[in-house]
Amino acid sequence: MTSQIHDRLLIIDFGSQVTQLIARRLRELNVYCEIHPYQKVDAVFIREMAPKAVILSGGPDSVTRDGSPRAPQELFEMGLPILGICYGQQVMMHQLGGKVESGHGTAEFGRAYVTPTEAKLDILKGWFTQGREQVWMSHGDHVSQIAPGFEVYGTSPNAPFAITADASRRFYAVQFHPEVHHTPNGAKLYENFVKLAGFQGDWTMGAYREEAIARIREQVGDKKVICGLSGGVDSSVTAILLHEAIGDQLTCVFVDHGLLRKNESEEVVAMFRDNYNIQLIHADESELFLGELDGQSDPETKRKIIGKLFIDVFQKHADTIEGAEFLAQGTLYPDVIESVSFSGGPSVTIKSHHNVGGLPEKMGLKLVEPLRELFKDEVRALGRELGLPQSFIGRHPFPGPGLAIRCPGEITRPKLDILREADAVYIDQIRKHGLYDEIWQAFVAILPVRTVGVMGDGRTYDYACALRAVTSVDGMTADYYPFSHEFLGETATRIINEVPGINRVTYDITSKPPGTIEWE
Ligand code: XMP
Repeated sequence: MTSQIHDRLLIIDFGSQVTQLIARRLRELNVYCEIHPYQKVDAVFIREMAPKAVILSGGPDSVTRDGSPRAPQELFEMGLPILGICYGQQVMMHQLGGKVESGHGTAEFGRAYVTPTEAKLDILKGWFTQGREQVWMSHGDHVSQIAPGFEVYGTSPNAPFAITADASRRFYAVQFHPEVHHTPNGAKLYENFVKLAGFQGDWTMGAYREEAIARIREQVGDKKVICGLSGGVDSSVTAILLHEAIGDQLTCVFVDHGLLRKNESEEVVAMFRDNYNIQLIHADESELFLGELDGQSDPETKRKIIGKLFIDVFQKHADTIEGAEFLAQGTLYPDVIESVSFSGGPSVTIKSHHNVGGLPEKMGLKLVEPLRELFKDEVRALGRELGLPQSFIGRHPFPGPGLAIRCPGEITRPKLDILREADAVYIDQIRKHGLYDEIWQAFVAILPVRTVGVMGDGRTYDYACALRAVTSVDGMTADYYPFSHEFLGETATRIINEVPGINRVTYDITSKPPGTIEWE
């Protein structure tokens, strides 16, 4: 859904791995932008969206190949400022009368240094103050002749046309990727570009909140909405935003499957009942879930049982809310971006994300997804704007199947109780040492093995557990967190002393890949 109030920037995606980072950089500048795959963008689309500027992303193809992606030719006649990046630069040169070559010696990957030419360029304000600039290159082809009207403003040893522009038409084209971390001054380039394009930087959370509330009211009218609540940031922010928009027309359903962490269920329920006065069905279904999981040890079987029961239970409770026509979900922007796929199959893959998969169709419900334009950190900012306590907003992610996937092998109540206690001590340690916000996710897994130990004068024969802590940006890849030996030693001692049932503590130092974050 295109924002009708804010200035808009269109990013035409040619399939780069880092296109989303362009959007991140722009959002940091309070600029509203949307990513759309090149196949979908024609002149009509652009006129309807009415962007104030356009960015052409990088991509893996070669403009020298017949049938490779192009921008609509009319784009270059619309008088809009355009920034082409990597493949986007090559598309611009190719379509505007320059030359691009591929083949031996044209590729360049990794760090490079760009030096300025004599000419000055508006989007390079704040660049080259120390002489040269570090940039990140990742291209197979290179521009061998720039298009008429363009000039060169920066060169690198392997890219004589690293920065080019036709300033009179506000066309800019760079060979490197200013959006990545390894181009340290890249954000400045985007800042200069959006300034000269006339963006006001009016994409703020305060404004977004008002806009989202108005849109929810318009969509829902006087109908009722149900919202599945997990206690995670996305569903919490969704619920609070909806409550602000439609008050008592909203009912939340919180399914407690008996696989939550220590005190979690009480905390979630208290937060919503006490602070927001939201109508909440607290469905304690732990008997059901743990009963069905009894004796099951295969990870996929466990996941399937939980997924199916969750839908059944949610539906059972939702059926008690008469007249509900909408289901609210905390779907985020990265889940809905249509990414360009070059890996076979249909050329456009639409990543869709259904927290309660299958339900809307089955129950004949329409979806309300008020966060679908936001990135995760923007959801957190919106949560702050809505007054959610920081302790809630900054929480580590917690998986839907809960402790089930941190309890390899059979799940039993005693094991879950031990796990909950150990996890609470571990997280307490992390908080006490001021490390919680540095870590993407931390938890304990209880292992399906008992080991021999000695405590006081006695022999023990108790469970071993593994501590897990990782750093990550998006959960797709992860590194183990490098705790000090002192921290690990102190934590192991505390867990063994304070948690009956555990007599051995290990630390998991597997990265992802090859491991996964969770144990199952
Ligand atoms: P893995 O274990 O695949 O986890 O490396 C990556 C991230 O996803 C979370 N995760 C889940 N979240 N439902 C969820 O809502 C699930 O079934 C699920 N499985 C894993 C995991 O906690 C980590 O943050």
